[in-house]
Amino acid sequence: MVRLEYSKKVLEHFKNPRNVGEIEDADAVGTVGNPVCGDMMELSLKIKDDMIEDIKFRTFGCASAIATTSMLTEIVKGKTLKEAEDLTWDDVVEGLEGLPPIKVHCSLLAVDGLKKALYEYYRSKGIDRQDLKPNEEDDHDQGEEEKEVGPIV
Ligand code: FES
Repeated sequence: MVRLEYSKKVLEHFKNPRNVGEIEDADAVGTVGNPVCGDMMELSLKIKDDMIEDIKFRTFGCASAIATTSMLTEIVKGKTLKEAEDLTWDDVVEGLEGLPPIKVHCSLLAVDGLKKALYEYYRSKGIDRQDLKPNEEDDHDQGEEEKEVGPIV
């Protein structure tokens, strides 16, 4: 069995995730999933004056997916759309003071969910931002290492 070392920040966000739920009158919703591990992510956004006024998430995901999305919501709340577009999984992992390498891919699910929500927002305004559309076929690609070690407890 593989024992993973999580930072205090990851454990804290996993135990007390921020911004969980769904915004009823959201301006945009992004849903992404990984067909391999079955994890799903949904982010809803409230946008005003090109700024993310509110953000919430729901997930059927692992502890890292929960912690990374919780951190992501804290980072982008109050930020401009441009700042949110530029967010990378690296920023989220850095905010959490690191993730075990084998779990870094989980942060992609959170970032993909955000980009998908932004893509849907622009689409609702008649703007086609293909650059924000996650590749549905290899969303949140499962790392080879994880397949080799099997289930992680
Ligand atoms: S999000 Fe799929 S294993 Fe973490």
